[in-house]
Amino acid sequence: MLAELPPSPAVWCSGLRKRYGRRTAVDDVSFTVGRGEVLGLLGPNGAGKTSTIKMLLGLVRPDAGEVLLLGRPARDPQSRSRVGYLPELFRYQPWLTAAEVLRLHVRLAGVAVPVGEQRECLALVGLADRAGDRVGGFSKGMQQRLGLAVALVARPEFVVLDEPTSALDPLGRADVRDLVLTLKARGVAVLLNSHLIGEVERVCDRVVILDKGRVAASGSLSELLGRREVRLRLDGVRPEAEARLAATGRLRRTGDWFTVELPDGEEAAAVPDLVAELVGLGVRVHAVEPGRISLEERLLGILRDGVRP
Ligand SMILES: Nc1ncnc2c1ncn2[C@@H]1O[C@H](COP(=O)(O)OP(=O)(O)OP(=O)(O)O)[C@@H](O)[C@H]1O
Ligand SMILES: [Mg+2]
Repeated sequence: MLAELPPSPAVWCSGLRKRYGRRTAVDDVSFTVGRGEVLGLLGPNGAGKTSTIKMLLGLVRPDAGEVLLLGRPARDPQSRSRVGYLPELFRYQPWLTAAEVLRLHVRLAGVAVPVGEQRECLALVGLADRAGDRVGGFSKGMQQRLGLAVALVARPEFVVLDEPTSALDPLGRADVRDLVLTLKARGVAVLLNSHLIGEVERVCDRVVILDKGRVAASGSLSELLGRREVRLRLDGVRPEAEARLAATGRLRRTGDWFTVELPDGEEAAAVPDLVAELVGLGVRVHAVEPGRISLEERLLGILRDGVRP
């Protein structure tokens, strides 16, 4: 019977709360990462992303709320050994070589990973020729690459990456993107926290946006970005016409280009109606271009509007 049940989500959390002194770092945060799903955790500095991640992994004790990590309590070593984690700030023993760091972490996870596979893992993060070098002499980006290898080496079912590319060069960032997509294809779930929104937009299925410790928005990329916009190059826009533009949706203006967010559901009629009315108001319409809001613009909009009830 049990074998027929669908596997538990990679992580499930509900009502997580954490205070440090009088400051609330995380306030009533709930979300789920399904098996094989890539979830992006976004938000400004101090929003509570790292604190949330640490509670998910049983590294920080929540003041309230519950976590199930691969179907078990987060403090259970059995579930933790199947999780790969790249912390935000870390230092490996500087006297060990890269290969030794990996061997140590494989032993700690209690998983039998052959040396050949460990070496492949170093190659995957671009450190194949540095396996025998001491970590103390590694550059910042090389240390982060090693951290990634550590997160991936013990065949995890769930990988948590807290800013995996903050120190990486553009090539390294592209490698991480491919890595995440490879994990996803293998059915490994990934929780990715990054300030590089373009990166998140390319690899994540769903996004949770934290602001001041609370979930400000969450949903699939298509839900969050579903809203479309239209760019119009206009002249002769008098206040009446500008009010008509603003009545359609949020309006931005750069020179003679006006960008209007289109209302949900009424997209088909919104643009021709708008153009017809603008012409009626004496506006000269030079160009009308469809556009899609980027995750970055959406994120800024959500953060500026504040937390939604
Ligand atoms: N160990 C701690 N002691 C005291 N305060 C803490 C501690 N850890 C986190 N905080 C506070 O909790 C809040 C959230 O911090 P957190 O590290 O979770 O933010 P973050 O979203 O990861 O930010 P960043 O993008 O800068 O990494 C901050 O106000 C921080 O000062
Ligand atoms: Mg952080």
